[in-house]
Amino acid sequence: MHYHRVHMSRCWPGLLFVACLCGQTTGNTKNDVKLPEGPAKALTERVCTPCHGLENVVRARMTKERWGRVVDDMISRGATATDTEADQIVDYLAANFGPAKAKEESKP
Ligand code: HEC
Repeated sequence: MHYHRVHMSRCWPGLLFVACLCGQTTGNTKNDVKLPEGPAKALTERVCTPCHGLENVVRARMTKERWGRVVDDMISRGATATDTEADQIVDYLAANFGPAKAKEESKP
């Protein structure tokens, strides 16, 4: 394969950005995902839905540490949340979408 790998990788950030800007047009089941009730539900919906649906969020199972990294990453991509809001989102995601089943009973 002598495809233009360099060209591809240079396009990536631009493509992502465009995908973000016109998120609504790239799928029609985006807002069907319902988040579990929780203190940061509305906040998470507001901060995390402009670019993509929540399906990759609700499907993920990560530790709090890793959620922290994802949320940081999303913020560096353009998600708008203050540090406090990011903390709330991470807590909420870790509580509802953590890897350990044992903790799932202590939902708020
Ligand atoms: C500024 C746009 C933007 C916002 C806002 C945003 N994301 Fe993302 N997110 C992306 C992009 C771009 C990807 C990569 C999509 C892909 O790889 O197909 C992504 C991917 C993901 C993934 C999948 C990661 C993986 O490795 O598979 C998760 C989980 C995720 N986002 C969670 C969140 C959460 C939680 C929030 C809210 C805190 C959020 N996103 C807000 C742009 C954003």
